[in-house]
Amino acid sequence: MTGKLKIFTLPLMQKNNVYIETYGCQMNVADTEIVLGILKKQGYDVTDKPDNADIILLNTCSIRENAEQRIYGRLGNFKTLKTQRPEVIVGILGCMAERLKKDLIEEKKIVDLVVGPDEYRRLPEYIDVAFNGDKGIGVKLSRTETYDDIEPHREDGLSAWISVMRGCDKFCTFCVVPFTRGRERSRSLESVVKEVESLSARRFKDVTLLGQNVNSYLDEQFANGGDFADLLAAVAKVDRTMRVRFTTSHPQDLSDKLLHTIAKHPNLCNHIHLPVQSGSNRILELMNRTYTVEHYLDLIERAKRIIPGVSFSTDIIAGFPTETWEDHLATLDVMRQVRYDGAYMFKYSPREGTKAFKMNDDVTEEIKSKRLQEIIELQQQISFEKNQELIGKEETVLVEGFSRKSDDFYAGRTDSNKVVIISADRNIQPGTYVKVKINKATHATLFGELMNEVQIDDEKIVLSV
Ligand code: 5AD
Ligand code: SF4
Repeated sequence: MTGKLKIFTLPLMQKNNVYIETYGCQMNVADTEIVLGILKKQGYDVTDKPDNADIILLNTCSIRENAEQRIYGRLGNFKTLKTQRPEVIVGILGCMAERLKKDLIEEKKIVDLVVGPDEYRRLPEYIDVAFNGDKGIGVKLSRTETYDDIEPHREDGLSAWISVMRGCDKFCTFCVVPFTRGRERSRSLESVVKEVESLSARRFKDVTLLGQNVNSYLDEQFANGGDFADLLAAVAKVDRTMRVRFTTSHPQDLSDKLLHTIAKHPNLCNHIHLPVQSGSNRILELMNRTYTVEHYLDLIERAKRIIPGVSFSTDIIAGFPTETWEDHLATLDVMRQVRYDGAYMFKYSPREGTKAFKMNDDVTEEIKSKRLQEIIELQQQISFEKNQELIGKEETVLVEGFSRKSDDFYAGRTDSNKVVIISADRNIQPGTYVKVKINKATHATLFGELMNEVQIDDEKIVLSV
């Protein structure tokens, strides 16, 4: 659907229950909140049961083949539902909408609506088109859309994700994001600060600023130019009791200014997600990552010098085309040198339209699996050792609520985002910061005891500003 569309209001016969499922990265979670913000403003209601829904939306991810396969599987379920209730609208949002429009509409005939990440503002119009019996299709990418003025729909809680920039100009050769999400563009610094102020007023305690490549954030209208360090500093000042995180950083653009900003503000978490992807310079070049292992390790050292106690996590791909055993060993070597707190680890998955798709996917599935397994095992060992080092130490923990396994325990998070389990003390409310002494650790979880002399007043406790 292009050109001018009439603005429809809700049909008299109210078909306004929306059910939405979100797949993939946190950007998609944030986008779902934007979509719901747009739809709620138009009078739609959100339901958490597909059986009650008039409109079923899947906000999709294309980053790897298996993500798309899962969503095709899910569409199969909705096909059954649609045979029972043919009036229900089923729609695909997000990256798959951008990539597979034709296939979804023409071949998988159950889809009525295909709307890409830059067309959500017009979703109510496309829904009306679908209710009128046509296909609602909006897949144009934009150079300017940031949804700056849209208030995302968020349930009350402690943690929020705020998308501050969209798209990516890096064109790593394996990645579909530049094709499915378009060019980089940033929201205004002012609007991000306003959103954080409103989250602070709602007593949120943990915000993560999101972008495919947050270090490229730039608000050109802002006095003296507002780069990502300026944005972080401004957000940190909104509420000193609010933890501020960010993801994802590209090693090419992580400036010293940014590192000094993190060091300066106690509520900016001392944790950087810095995808390395591979430990081999030859593979990094084939991936168009634009840095060498030496540059990357130097950056890690600089960050450690500037931000005492900083920790890192990363993304790693196993089995990129032409990857040899030596290349794989080099990746393990980087992992041993950096000693990441955590890692997202993947088998290489060829994506149509990317540069790497034209390369011969010559590492067999079996070898990819074997290498990935070794990477996972090494990371688990490093995470375990790093967590063991915390035994006996004190951590400041934001209590989030009862643990998943039992109401006798609370779960909370440290500054570096590690989960900590403590006994549930009924005098402590979720949303408070407490000092915890760590007494046990696995590779994934810390366990600790509440320190006696803890003051539960969150203004005083954590952040010695
Ligand atoms: N195959 C495997 N992993 C991929 N990623 C992105 N594209 C691919 C692909 N084609 C991983 C990268 C990236 C993370 C978000 O997903 O590690 O950092
Ligand atoms: Fe994809 Fe690379 Fe952009 Fe990350 S930086 S979104 S991996 S192209």
